[in-house]
Amino acid sequence: MTFGPGFLWGAATSSYQIEGAASLDGRLPSIWDTFCAAPGKVDGGDTGAVAADHYHRYPEDVALMRSLGLGAYRFSIAWPRVQPLGSGAVEQRGLDFYRRLVDTLLDNGIQPWPTLYHWDLPQPLEDLGGWPERDTALRFAEYAELVHDALGDRVTHWTTLNEPWCSAFLGYATGRHAPGRQDPAASIRAAHHLLLGHGLAARAMPGASVGITLNLTHVTAGSGSAEDLDAARRIDGLQNRLFLDPVLLAEYPSDVVADLAPVTAFDFVQEDDLKNIAAPLDFLGVNYYSPMLVGHGSASGPSAYVGSEHVSHLDGGRARTSIGWEIDARGLLDLLLRLDRDYPAIPLYVTENGAAFDDEIHDAERIAYLDGHVRACADAMARGVRLKGYFAWSLLDNFEWSYGYAQRFGLVHVDYQTQERTLKDSAHWYAALIRRGGL
Ligand code: FCB
Repeated sequence: MTFGPGFLWGAATSSYQIEGAASLDGRLPSIWDTFCAAPGKVDGGDTGAVAADHYHRYPEDVALMRSLGLGAYRFSIAWPRVQPLGSGAVEQRGLDFYRRLVDTLLDNGIQPWPTLYHWDLPQPLEDLGGWPERDTALRFAEYAELVHDALGDRVTHWTTLNEPWCSAFLGYATGRHAPGRQDPAASIRAAHHLLLGHGLAARAMPGASVGITLNLTHVTAGSGSAEDLDAARRIDGLQNRLFLDPVLLAEYPSDVVADLAPVTAFDFVQEDDLKNIAAPLDFLGVNYYSPMLVGHGSASGPSAYVGSEHVSHLDGGRARTSIGWEIDARGLLDLLLRLDRDYPAIPLYVTENGAAFDDEIHDAERIAYLDGHVRACADAMARGVRLKGYFAWSLLDNFEWSYGYAQRFGLVHVDYQTQERTLKDSAHWYAALIRRGGL
């Protein structure tokens, strides 16, 4: 199975998960610094204060990327590092860090693939209301423009948001993620303003190749009963179409708007918003980890699927990774085929895919996971899907949000005591795959 010479092989990380240096060179707190400081929010009381110390060790990390033969590196830019208050003054020392990183990548023949927002909202913006407030979208577009002004001569591919579903629903509905609010109506407003921020940012970066990364999945019903099929439709709506349709079709799916009527009237949508959200897009980033099986039942606890309290998540009976996510590469194939069918015009990249396992250096299970999913990509391409690249999550073990450091997703092992990096077997496997250009 070969992918052709134009296929982009990369690995991904994000700022708060690896950088550390949380209060250095003018960086001020993001919502994740605040969230981590609140007792009981993150397993083990872990924080991203030091993380993998990538802020200082980026030259070594870029050398590792080069040794693996990566064609691209997907990382994120920390808004609180380059514009610490979320508006107004720019922190040159923060921008300089990303200039150095980008230059080092380019010197090593690796394409920089920055994401502008991977969840670290400057705390001052949350204090003003955060993503449920329209103004946050406008601030985001300004921030995008200033970063693009600084790096646009060297960076060609830009991603606006990473997984707005998580920012909106884990951040404002379940409270599992920062800022930890539990307000279903606010979570829908947050989703809309994230999407608006995406569209306005895309328009603020003329000449750039712009994408958005969504966490999408393949949703199936537990049975053919009308109630189970309706549960699957609802969850597919909230997880996939609520984001895909406005971005790619300039409309909210009417069935999802109807499902959400008891929660919100969508009266926050202003004239031209959908036109702005559907700004011309050059690629869609797909993050896929696990499929979803749902049926009629009842959710336990505050649900991320707002307005879907009569849906339960079912066990598909498959093996799981250490974080508890079911393994099913077929779900990735089905998802890619579906995207190609329903949104045929947009080129696709898998911008995250990977697995947490407790094994350290000899990670046969991670290799099996990646191998299965890379095969699914090849199958999709053989059936005509316009898939242009694949990024493994993650280059390094890192801070896995509310799970802290306990869940390791890296191709490269990080010893958090010494910051020593060691290539896992999966890193060697990935390097060989890239060298051969296929499986
Ligand atoms: C995704 C996130 C990424 C990482 C992986 C495991 O939802 O984008 O930061 O946590 O999951």
